[in-house]
Amino acid sequence: MSTSLDTSQIFGEQKRTYVRSMFARIASRYDLLNSLLSLRIHHYWRHVAAKEAALQPGQYALDVCTGTADFALRLAKDVGAQGLVVGVDFCEPMLKIGMSKVRRQGVDGCITLALADAQNLPFPSERFDAVTVAFGIRNVVDMRQAFAEMWRVLKPGGRLVCLEFSHPRRQPFRSIYAFYFHRILPLVGGLLSHRDAYTYLPVSVSYFPEREQLAQVLREVGFVQVKWTELTFGIVCIHSGVKP
Ligand SMILES: C[S@@+](CC[C@H](N)C(=O)[O-])C[C@H]1O[C@@H](n2cnc3c(N)ncnc32)[C@H](O)[C@@H]1O
Repeated sequence: MSTSLDTSQIFGEQKRTYVRSMFARIASRYDLLNSLLSLRIHHYWRHVAAKEAALQPGQYALDVCTGTADFALRLAKDVGAQGLVVGVDFCEPMLKIGMSKVRRQGVDGCITLALADAQNLPFPSERFDAVTVAFGIRNVVDMRQAFAEMWRVLKPGGRLVCLEFSHPRRQPFRSIYAFYFHRILPLVGGLLSHRDAYTYLPVSVSYFPEREQLAQVLREVGFVQVKWTELTFGIVCIHSGVKP
C-alpha cells in the first residue's frame, strides 16, 4: 500500500485492509516502538485499565484487538491459573508475536489467542466476565458494531473496559503534546519502523470521538454505569460500562 495514502480519507473495507496490512508490516517493531514512544508508560496505562476490569481469580476475560498480547498478559495475572483470557485480533503477525510472549512467560495454560474480527466475535453470547479493548477500537471500521459484539458476549453484570488515546485539554501541555504526536512521533516511527503507520496514528486519534461522544455510543449500545478516567494529562482515556 502506498505510503502517501491519505489515511483520513479511507473508510469501510479499504480501511480494514489498510489497517490489517499496516499492523502486519510493523508487528516485529511494535513492542519496541510502544515502549520507546511512550517512555514505557503504556504498561502503567494497561495496569490501570486492568484494575478497572476488576477481574477475580477463576474468571473469563476477552481482550479484543489484542495485538502482541500485552493486555492479555496483564489480565492473566488477575484471573490466575484457574481463569482464562482469550485474546483476538485480525492480524496474524501481531498474534504470532503475542503467542511467543505467552509461551515465554509460561502462561499458555490461561491465555488463548485467536484470529477474529472485532465486528464478528466467534463466541456464544454471555460468555465473559469482562471484555477489554486497548488502543484498538479507533482502528475498527464499525466501532458501534464492535461494541455491540462485546456487549453480546459479556455476561449480565460483566464489564467493558476500553483504553484509547485521547486529546489532552490543558495548555501548554496540549500544544507540546500535539507537536510531539504529529511531528516527532512519525519521525521516530519512520526511522525505526514504517513512517506511514506512525503518521496514521495521530490521524486516527484526531478522528476518534471525544470522551462524552464515546460514552454516548456505549450507552446507546446498552451499557450502563458508563464512566471515564483520564490518565497522564488526558493523553489516554479509559471508558468503562456494565452490561445490565
Ligand atoms: C494499536 S494495536 C493494539 C494492540 C494491543 N491491544 C495493545 O494494547 O498493544 C491495534 C490492534 O488492533 C487490531 N485490529 C484493528 N482492527 C481490528 C478488527 N476489526 N478486528 C480485530 N483486530 C483489529 C490490529 O491488528 C492491531 O493488532
